[in-house]
Amino acid sequence: MNDNMNKPVLAQRVHESAWAHVSGTAIYTDDIPELHGTLHAALGLSPYAHARLRHIDLSKVKASPGVIAVFTADDIPGENQCGPIIKDDPVLADGVLQYAGQPVFIVVAESHELARKAARLAIFDVEVLPANLNPREAAAQGQLVIPPMHLQRGDAETRLTSAPHRIQGQWQVGGQEQFYLEGQIAYALPGESGNMQVYCSTQHPSEMQHVVAHALHIGSHQVQVVCRRMGGGFGGKESQSALWAASAAIAAARLKRPVKLRADRDDDMLVTGKRHDFYYDYDAGFDENGRLLGLSVQMISRAGFSADLSGPVATRAVCHLDNAYYLSDVDIRALCARTNTQSNTAFRGFGGPQGALLIEYLMDDIARHLGKDPFDVRRHNFYDPDPSQERCVTHYGQPVADNILKPLSEQLYQNADYQTRKAAIQAFNRQSPVLKKGLALTPVKFGIAFNVTHLNQAGGLVHIYLDGTVLVNHGGTEMGQGIHTKILQVVAHELGISADKVHIAATDTGKIANTSATAASTGTDLNGKAVQDAAIQLRNRLTALAAQLSGSAEADVVFSENVVSTGNWMMPFSELVQKAYLQRIQLWSDGFYATPGIHWNSAKMQGSPFQYFAYGAALSEVIVDTLTGEWKLLAADLLYDAGQSLNPAIDQGQVEGGFIQGMGWLTMEELVWNQDGKLSTHAPSTYKIPAVSDCPARFNTHLFNNINAAETIHRSKAVGEPPLLLAFSVFFAIRDAIAGINPGYRGNVPLSAPATPEAILNAVQTMQSTLTQ
Ligand code: MTE
Ligand code: MOS
Repeated sequence: MNDNMNKPVLAQRVHESAWAHVSGTAIYTDDIPELHGTLHAALGLSPYAHARLRHIDLSKVKASPGVIAVFTADDIPGENQCGPIIKDDPVLADGVLQYAGQPVFIVVAESHELARKAARLAIFDVEVLPANLNPREAAAQGQLVIPPMHLQRGDAETRLTSAPHRIQGQWQVGGQEQFYLEGQIAYALPGESGNMQVYCSTQHPSEMQHVVAHALHIGSHQVQVVCRRMGGGFGGKESQSALWAASAAIAAARLKRPVKLRADRDDDMLVTGKRHDFYYDYDAGFDENGRLLGLSVQMISRAGFSADLSGPVATRAVCHLDNAYYLSDVDIRALCARTNTQSNTAFRGFGGPQGALLIEYLMDDIARHLGKDPFDVRRHNFYDPDPSQERCVTHYGQPVADNILKPLSEQLYQNADYQTRKAAIQAFNRQSPVLKKGLALTPVKFGIAFNVTHLNQAGGLVHIYLDGTVLVNHGGTEMGQGIHTKILQVVAHELGISADKVHIAATDTGKIANTSATAASTGTDLNGKAVQDAAIQLRNRLTALAAQLSGSAEADVVFSENVVSTGNWMMPFSELVQKAYLQRIQLWSDGFYATPGIHWNSAKMQGSPFQYFAYGAALSEVIVDTLTGEWKLLAADLLYDAGQSLNPAIDQGQVEGGFIQGMGWLTMEELVWNQDGKLSTHAPSTYKIPAVSDCPARFNTHLFNNINAAETIHRSKAVGEPPLLLAFSVFFAIRDAIAGINPGYRGNVPLSAPATPEAILNAVQTMQSTLTQ
């Protein structure tokens, strides 16, 4: 790959850790050399989904070889709490066991293995309580973790009754395990005066700092949280790294020794929350062209035993129910059902995928109902690109000001030969009784910014050292998505130095205070602007000095290729830095950014919460074996709008990765809880994620030629989450293939999500029964 030295921004550049990743020298939390005296912790988990804890006999745990100590809720010096918003999430269960897998005690031993062995030896004395495992039932009983949400525009009911066509029904989509390659981990080092330092794999160091401070009953200024990188987060380490950070810190504080807590994959999956499974009731009215007239939707999500981020996830689902389409008269309710299962949390897209999936399902159904091409129905419902039109305002009141849905999807439609391939597929299906092909083209519109306005802020800190090298801190965390590479490019560009002169330090609460989670795809948008602010301040100081030394105007000073010049005067950047030092010019600066122009009224669910929208479209083609339900993705053509991409190589990786991860969610990843509420899919042996072999033979990814209308960092756009929604095209291509069994059929193709071979076979059999009728 072209390691473009001369053009730091808007250029292909390898991930700053790529060589370290592939050579095994990248240091993850577990690789940090352990301090002398380090102990290892494991968590003792609840075997019950719901029970009152009468007594717990830990004598066998304590007597187990190598065990140093065991701690329960009573041993926590401060607050027994790690809920990010609502305080309903104990670190260790206290009195009531709320799901099978809930941590009840911490066992600390000489080694990781000895701790894990001991953790299994507790004897629970409980009164078993009825467990609620079904989100629909829980919601019907009013078991919710937060009050219901309601968003209304126009008069959906009247429009539904007067609509020429109407479809009503229920549907659902499954959850998804984040399956980061590096599991949850924290390494806590006690310091003097009760201070605590925690190395932790987390998307949210500031929140880890707060949770640890509260658990230890000390000030935030006594806690330092550091994360160099994660081996993936995908939302799973936004709030739910807290349990691990707090547990390691509690044990370290009590023992005054370093304690490491690393979850095994099984424990990780049993303890932590996942993507919410969603349960829909829908009622949609439309005209003969397939245009939506009225829509009423209720979405129930499985929140699990506590609120965690279920509220914001539901908000994003509500705000993305439109996806690319204008909803004139709409009534949306969202309920976060309390169940005795893991507390579900952030996962790439953060509810957005679950909202948008439903409208895509309806678009597909409307088309099949009317015997129309699904993409024709989709584009007929697109937001109006003319900002003066009513059909350009979202159901929550934000105008879609930067709408490129039409040119973007038309480009894909043409370049990927939709029409020709559709005809070829129909011809294939006519002569192929067993194997059926299908295709689908689906669009994506995704709002960028945290819905909660105040989270949209960030800080940066740039140090120039006397040799002209630069160290950068910022509030974002690196989880493989390439934020550090992009930040490095931004700083190198502003200072006119080559990227090898810039280093990004580990994310550290001692360097940048009060950061937001690296989430909502905003990491580079926010932190890129913050470090740019710092770098510009430094450049301005150096510019003044260069002007003085050269006797030219400041406006003539140029920083480029490690040299500062004006006219025929020039000086190496490092030399100018030394001159600045001697003149006592400050060679480090902080920077700050707050996203302008956004607001959100959460009570009314109205506002303009997003700075801009990111767009994309995908065309997928599949082949389905109607005898076995097996299928294969033959081709995928993806087009994504990264604005003016900061790094096309990294963005392409994000688009492909997000797409394949979304495909996993919708087609192969299936979470199963047994009748006792225990998750039975808690390891790769039972939980199947996509592999390299699942990538299609034809896999074309392109970035749409665009410049962000909003004034973002170099007019780029976020890329972390929205491409996951491109995978809708795979699901609907499978549905299209199944519909190919009976091309004359006008109705719902009964495919559930995830479309596992079992689900496909069920749908195939139902479709075959329509043939014989
Ligand atoms: N890419 C990799 N490789 N690993 C990850 O964990 N997380 C995703 C996305 N891409 C993730 C990833 C999620 S959930 C988000 S919100 C964004 O990255 C966060 O990073 P950004 O804001 O810098 O895009
Ligand atoms: Mo991403 S789900 O916002 O961490």
